[in-house]
Amino acid sequence: MKILFIGDIVAKPGRAAIKEVLPKLREKEKIDLVIANIENLSHGKGATIDKVDEIRDAGVDIFTSGNHIWFKSEFTETLDSDPTVIRPANYPADNPGFGFTFVDVAKKKVMIINLLGRQWIDQPVDEPYRAIDVILLDQVDKEKPDIIVVDFHAEATSEKNALAWFLDGRVTAVIGTHTHIPTCDQWILPKGTAFVSDIGMTGALHSVLGVKPDIIIRKQKDTEPVKFEWVETGPKVFRSVLLEIDTKNKAKDIRRLDFNLE
Ligand SMILES: [Fe+2]
Ligand SMILES: [Fe+2]
Repeated sequence: MKILFIGDIVAKPGRAAIKEVLPKLREKEKIDLVIANIENLSHGKGATIDKVDEIRDAGVDIFTSGNHIWFKSEFTETLDSDPTVIRPANYPADNPGFGFTFVDVAKKKVMIINLLGRQWIDQPVDEPYRAIDVILLDQVDKEKPDIIVVDFHAEATSEKNALAWFLDGRVTAVIGTHTHIPTCDQWILPKGTAFVSDIGMTGALHSVLGVKPDIIIRKQKDTEPVKFEWVETGPKVFRSVLLEIDTKNKAKDIRRLDFNLE
């Protein structure tokens, strides 16, 4: 079983990179399931259903998200009704949407869980360790998933690393998103959980987080307020990790699949 996880897809260049790379990659690597983080899918902040369908058509099956998913208020309708789209599970239970989902693929039941970190992220979320303990306790015996993939959307590499150790042997993979910067620490922990701190973003290469660099420089250097402008042209990057899972549902391999595009 092969699962491809694509990092935060940012705006138009991100969607273009998906359409350029994913259909051929899916075929070449014989990928069974594609998961992507879409918190920045539509004009850099949040998502809209038309853009979700655009990348669904290119081969993405399951859509995770993060702190930016609330920017387009109309998207809450999709979060409440489309089981392929999830938001972090540790937001308050009465907020729109669901924090995990299940999909049947290649005769396996795959559970995908989304969680948000708390270090340097100012969002009203519960502490992620107890939140995922409760989800696993409630769902594993009831639903009996063969494979569990966690998108841990967090800023601090230490928080992601610690959660991966906390879940080692209990989930198939802990995959980090949010920073838009790729890390090369992909490996399999002693009890069999695959991990990477951050996949990095899929979007404009000549940018900071997808935004025009001079705007971010002004924001950090000067006091005057700035308006974000997203890079829409130029070279792009496609960033992902490919998980290979053996017949006993254990992670066998995790490797980066990154492409630079014109
Ligand atoms: Fe993001
Ligand atoms: Fe984020």
